[in-house]
Amino acid sequence: MFLSDNTAPACPEIFAFLQQHIQGTTDLPYGDDFYTQQLNEFLSVIFDTDVWVMPVLTGTAANCLALGQLCNNYQSIICHESSHLAISESTAPVFFTGGARLQYCGGEIDKITPQQLAQQLEATHWNDIHGSPPATLAITQATELGRTYSPEDMQIFGDLCKQYGLNYFVDGARFANAVAARQCHPAELSWRAGVTAMTLGASKNGAFNVEALVIFDPQYAKGIMARAKRSGHLASKMRFLSAQLHTYFSNDLWLNNARHANQMAALCDRLLKQHSIETRFSAHTNQLFIRLTESQYHSSRDAGYEMYHWPLEDQGILKDYYRLVTHWSTSAEQIAGFADAIGIKVTKPI
Ligand SMILES: Cc1ncc(COP(=O)(O)O)c(C=O)c1O
Repeated sequence: MFLSDNTAPACPEIFAFLQQHIQGTTDLPYGDDFYTQQLNEFLSVIFDTDVWVMPVLTGTAANCLALGQLCNNYQSIICHESSHLAISESTAPVFFTGGARLQYCGGEIDKITPQQLAQQLEATHWNDIHGSPPATLAITQATELGRTYSPEDMQIFGDLCKQYGLNYFVDGARFANAVAARQCHPAELSWRAGVTAMTLGASKNGAFNVEALVIFDPQYAKGIMARAKRSGHLASKMRFLSAQLHTYFSNDLWLNNARHANQMAALCDRLLKQHSIETRFSAHTNQLFIRLTESQYHSSRDAGYEMYHWPLEDQGILKDYYRLVTHWSTSAEQIAGFADAIGIKVTKPI
């Protein structure tokens, strides 16, 4: 099954930790428990700076809770038109911000470019009382097509945000995959580049169901628990969410899982290319876009390797692309099985 990384099971380390340390114990509700209390300290070490952290059940809620803190109801959020925020979060951004608008900025099929952002900010009528000036830039790292922003581009965004007084938000549903791909410190792709707050996905990368909302500028943590409560996102048994994050960020599990997922996508990319099957955005992280005939698609689906049909619209609409997503438990045998299903004979172990 290559539909998405949220089809992945929970990884054994997290399962075992919950069973050994949480199951059968009692602790206080609504975040007053041992593991939630530890999260700030835990993540502060990972990011090498003081952070404020809240575990949230879904990525949409985590993104939009953060944006509610970073943007007023009469302002707007700059994001890419293909972003999860723009196309897959329903009216949640409006709901959580109380009415803020999304304003699109692009440059590449899945990315905002520094040039486009600079031009857009330069052209903004900041004092137009009839408009909704931007308050926040939101980017996705890794992007919805599995590519990553470089630390240099992230720094340019940060400088522009500073120049124009914007907050800077990162949807990091696949942040682990981006850090693993870039082989850099998480700080370089976040606060050192000027990021104000971010979400850091865990559900797609080994957890049962939790994302970390991470705030770097403490003024934006104020009131967030009340905002979470108001939207039904203050988990009473938060300790189960926090304990998942505790394990996820222990012993580099989050990076090891992401590294493995990225490697499996790269393996698949190599194999397909060797057999002249076209792929796009060559497996920067754990997503691959593959050009298949309908009959190859049907045989792979019949063999259990489901994928989403994913037309790519950058150079005219390329309809015959499919998105293949790997995750922490994808195996080389599964990649070989998929190759076999689309007519590639793998003769030696891969
Ligand atoms: C880029 C991105 N952001 C956020 C999310 C989180 O979404 P959900 O609310 O389904 O957990 C996803 C999940 O697909 C995603 O791909």
